[in-house]
Amino acid sequence: MTNLNAPADGPAGRAPRVGGTAGPSAGADATMELATIGGAAFPGGSSVSGGSSVSSGSSVSSGSSVSGGAAVSGDEAVLGGGAVSGDGWAGEVAGGDALIELSGITKVLKGQQEPRTILDGVDLTVRAGESVAIVGRSGSGKSTLLSVVGLFDRPDSGSYVLAGQEISRLPERRAAKLRSSHFGFVFQRFFLLKHLTAAQNVAMALVNGQGWLPRRERRKRVMTALDQVGIAHLAKNRPAKMSGGEQQRVAIARALVRNPRVLLADEPTGALDTETGALVIDALLGATERGCGLILVTHDRDHAARMGRIFDLRDGLLTERVPA
Ligand SMILES: Nc1ncnc2c1ncn2[C@@H]1O[C@H](COP(=O)(O)OP(=O)(O)OP(=O)(O)O)[C@@H](O)[C@H]1O
Ligand SMILES: [Mg+2]
Repeated sequence: MTNLNAPADGPAGRAPRVGGTAGPSAGADATMELATIGGAAFPGGSSVSGGSSVSSGSSVSSGSSVSGGAAVSGDEAVLGGGAVSGDGWAGEVAGGDALIELSGITKVLKGQQEPRTILDGVDLTVRAGESVAIVGRSGSGKSTLLSVVGLFDRPDSGSYVLAGQEISRLPERRAAKLRSSHFGFVFQRFFLLKHLTAAQNVAMALVNGQGWLPRRERRKRVMTALDQVGIAHLAKNRPAKMSGGEQQRVAIARALVRNPRVLLADEPTGALDTETGALVIDALLGATERGCGLILVTHDRDHAARMGRIFDLRDGLLTERVPA
């Protein structure tokens, strides 16, 4: 299975995870991750190559290269040769309509040991503009659930209706398309390319290999996304010159630039202090004001409390907290 943000210390031989925390396999994770961040699928999933390594708050190491027709051409150019497809959503789901409807979702891990039920009949509905926190102890399956919602992973049973369409049994190719058109991903690590400016990092999510976006339009979208998270003035800065909170907001802008319907954020403030984390939560909530759904996995009570609803994931079951 593919996991959005699980520790990278598990048994060898597992399927690669997406966005594992720093560990021995971080380099491979980073490459995987960059293939999918912001819902953008890079051609062949291998556009970023060259033994890249990513560490928290930093960047892909030297030697990484971007291929697939994307050429970095000067700071203000954002990215030359970027292409875009699955261009977000046209807004056919009105505010308040259900974007995500999970019912009876189960996920059983069949590894080298005994099969383990991680999700045991999860029900969850997320509407446009709604924010949802998912909390639970480490290993309870929060990242697994996000992987299922974000179409990185399939449920073993249950129904998943995305924007009115039953998709739990969709072929991978179509799932990948929906993933890229519907979801933006934000992780604990920022996965920024250190040689690129903030604007260029955001523009990476517009590289897709299907169709071209005129440079002016591309630049407009990138600057809009940076503005939405309050860091348009840092467009030309490289990650090394930004704080952790600023870097994470670049990552959020990268997730937003394709106009996703739903943002999936897996411990996005995990590497930040509370105050800086609050700015990141502001940026995520800003997206919900524009109609985006938000699912936030967090260990931070204060951040969870800012979401419209809070769910506990325990023993494979998701239970909504009754507001006090
Ligand atoms: N690819 C995998 N193969 C086998 N087991 C996995 C895989 N990914 C995760 N697991 C196991 O599934 C369980 C749920 O993991 P998951 O990463 O979803 O938990 P989590 O709630 O996100 O934890 P954390 O708060 O530490 O991030 C854990 O016991 C984990 O060890
Ligand atoms: Mg996790």
